Amino acid sequence: MRTQVGIIGAGPSGLVLSHLLYLHGIDSVILESRSQAYVEARMRAGVLDSDVTALFKAVGVGERMMKEGLPQEQMEIRFEGKRRYINWKELAGGRVNMVYGQQEVVKDFIQRRQQDGGKLFFEAQALRITDLDGRPTIEYMHEGQQKKLECEIVAACDGYHGIGRRTIPADKLEAYELNYSFAWLGIVAEARPSSKWLVTSAHERGYAMHSMRSPSISRNYLQIPLTDTVDDWSDERIWQELQTRLETDADWKLEEGAILEKTRFDIRSFVCHTMRYKKMFLAGDSAHMVPPTGGRGLNQAIADVCILADGLADYFKKSSSAHLERYTDLCLQRVWHAQQFTWRMTSVLQRLDWENKNPYHRQVQIAQLEYLTSNRAAATSLAECYAGMPLQTSF
Ligand code: FAD
Ligand code: DHB
Repeated sequence: MRTQVGIIGAGPSGLVLSHLLYLHGIDSVILESRSQAYVEARMRAGVLDSDVTALFKAVGVGERMMKEGLPQEQMEIRFEGKRRYINWKELAGGRVNMVYGQQEVVKDFIQRRQQDGGKLFFEAQALRITDLDGRPTIEYMHEGQQKKLECEIVAACDGYHGIGRRTIPADKLEAYELNYSFAWLGIVAEARPSSKWLVTSAHERGYAMHSMRSPSISRNYLQIPLTDTVDDWSDERIWQELQTRLETDADWKLEEGAILEKTRFDIRSFVCHTMRYKKMFLAGDSAHMVPPTGGRGLNQAIADVCILADGLADYFKKSSSAHLERYTDLCLQRVWHAQQFTWRMTSVLQRLDWENKNPYHRQVQIAQLEYLTSNRAAATSLAECYAGMPLQTSF
């Protein structure tokens, strides 16, 4: 099989890239190791920047999002029983984020790609990428057979554990990584959201977040010890801990309900500076990751593929490599902006001194939270970062 752009991964970055390329008149093929049902059910990110929602509308994949998404004008930050608000509509030039699950974005783009005759292969695992100097080839397993996809460009949209980045020789790879001494537990519950907006809490016992996916489904998170497994967290213990960490002086109660899913995941900050290697480009989580605090990961992935799609359009349609040559620099500027913001949000909301608790850290954290939520300049900076940098796209 042959194509212009061979895309590995049908997560948000691979799917959105394939659709943007289609609109530019460029052929692509997506290879995804998991089944369609699996990727459509995989619950992850939930908040889209206003620029991302505008992009989805502009490229004709925003209809269901506009009907079912839950606009967010502000977020609430709790600490020491206090309730404070960061209103990004007011502080960040009218921008409104949207709660719309990543799995819904994935469903919408798969459906659209399939309607447009896009070539998406599920349960097709990329094994090896060869000839990146000449005619790049992706060898993959599909329906029990080893097959080859020949392409002109490879887009590795295959997440942190994918093969794209691992194809780059170690002496050519420049990367920065930070691991944390705690993990997160993500909980999906059949419970009406208890708030119209996201509620984050920097509790002394650790971070908690109350988010949502629909008017009947809530999504909650707890900062937990690195050594904990899902089995350490009974449903009863989860609700008790969420109630404690989200508690306020005011009359507010977290709605409880049947827990549909609980997942433990590691937290990581990671940036691979080698976003291009010969004829392969890395995009999304394959090149960079942030802790979820700050809601940047998915939005960053979309920002990468906007730049990549325009670069590839110039390359294929105008025989110009100028834009592609700038891909890494353009992305990294945004990537490090998101890293600094996420680092700030993580240190101000979570207990970084999780293993060796030192009350000094907690006092500084409370002072930071007081300042961030009561000083307009500080709150404006937070709101602007949360709303996200403007997308660089021709769409
Ligand atoms: P992925 O979604 O990881 O997709 C990569 C795809 O490649 C996968 O489908 C994988 O199966 C496939 N693949 C891997 N290897 C191969 C192979 N060898 N062959 C073929 N296919 C392969 N971000 C936000 O912006 N806002 C949030 O609120 C937010 N909350 C989050 C909450 C949680 C709990 C988590 C885990 C993440 C959150 N994120 C958030 C981050 C966001 O989910 C990721 O940044 C996003 O999924 C990145 O998309 P991607 O397409 O680059 O990678
Ligand atoms: C979610 C939203 C966020 O803003 C965040 O920082 C982490 C997770 C969510 O809804 O899943």
